Amino acid sequence: MFYLPEGVIYLDGNSLGPTPAAVAEKVRACITDEWGEMLITAWNRAGWMDKPRALGDRIGRLIGAEPGTVVLGDTLSIKVYQALAAALDLRPDRKVVLSDTGNFPTDLYMAEGLIRTLGRSHELRTVAPEEVEAAITPDIAVLMLTEVDYRTGRKHDMKRLIEKAHAAGALVVWDLAHSAGAIEVDLAGSDADFAVGCTYKYLNSGPGGPAFIYVAPRIAERVKPALSGWLGHEAPFAFDLGYRPGAGIERMRVGTPPILQMAALEASMDIWDRVDMADIRARSIELTEAFVKAVEATCPTLTLASPRDPEARGSQISFRHPEGYAIMQALIARGVIGDFRAPDILRFGFTPLYTTMEDVSHAATILGEIMRDNLWDRAEFKTRAKVT
Ligand SMILES: Cc1ncc(COP(=O)(O)O)c(C=O)c1O
Repeated sequence: MFYLPEGVIYLDGNSLGPTPAAVAEKVRACITDEWGEMLITAWNRAGWMDKPRALGDRIGRLIGAEPGTVVLGDTLSIKVYQALAAALDLRPDRKVVLSDTGNFPTDLYMAEGLIRTLGRSHELRTVAPEEVEAAITPDIAVLMLTEVDYRTGRKHDMKRLIEKAHAAGALVVWDLAHSAGAIEVDLAGSDADFAVGCTYKYLNSGPGGPAFIYVAPRIAERVKPALSGWLGHEAPFAFDLGYRPGAGIERMRVGTPPILQMAALEASMDIWDRVDMADIRARSIELTEAFVKAVEATCPTLTLASPRDPEARGSQISFRHPEGYAIMQALIARGVIGDFRAPDILRFGFTPLYTTMEDVSHAATILGEIMRDNLWDRAEFKTRAKVT
């Protein structure tokens, strides 16, 4: 189903998914048969203009979203900004955005930029992840969280926090970057307001693949888009001078969608369409449990940074070590690819569509050898590259 280079154990699909076996042919066909033969008529004849919604529905099935509530486009940072701006606009009398210190920096940076642009003295309040629930007070406008912590894999209790936030009169924005395709998510069943996520991790759309955004149908018609681009207009091809938002989720579109990248995503969704997230989750737990057990048995100096309870984490396992960067480089040199997150996290993603139990045990054996013989302790493994 996926191509992986010979001799590589890939435990980084939580950062960049590998290529689906059919992706080259799918993108080639899009280039030659659609772009090549149909030229601009492909926007209609090949259905290009409808793809952000069509693909949104296919992703929606994996995250418990009703059909017609998810749309693709832009990058996740942009989608965070859009969702937060829309949510703040729906709570005009409140001034606090609550988030946690485990959130991905871009989410916090985008919130800072939005607050500056609004110029209405909003406050971005961050607390430790385990303190979020207690920090939901009646002055909170929006609770903005990443469900699964990118560093440790710790998972928030989505349903419970939404209930708590709603009871306090706040709206919630979820970043599902490490959830979509990794764990079961039930947006509709949890009464979620807004959710955003990327497609280049577990969903394998390739580097720079488009992000997605979900808005609950009960609020979508009240959303006033901050990024009021022409493709979110009610009638883009009327070319009116004034902006009128499109129906429901359509208004969260901004500009021209990335057609080639969406063709790549289609190759992956052809696989995901046949998958039950409950099966993926069950297998992911087996894989992560086996990895923790094997690594702890052979690497006493590595400290588990992920929750021990598999129900309390996503589909990744992280270990801490002061020399984490060099250890990861030594692992990559031996064909086991994970990644490093500052200051000291070795991060491993588990993706049941292509990770086997054999991969898990080989990876743990190699890590054990590297730690036992200090194979990481070489100058070449200590020079930091631009991307870690
Ligand atoms: C939780 C989370 N949010 C946002 C991003 C980045 O978003 P973008 O697609 O804009 O680079 C990442 C990237 O890894 C992420 O892990």
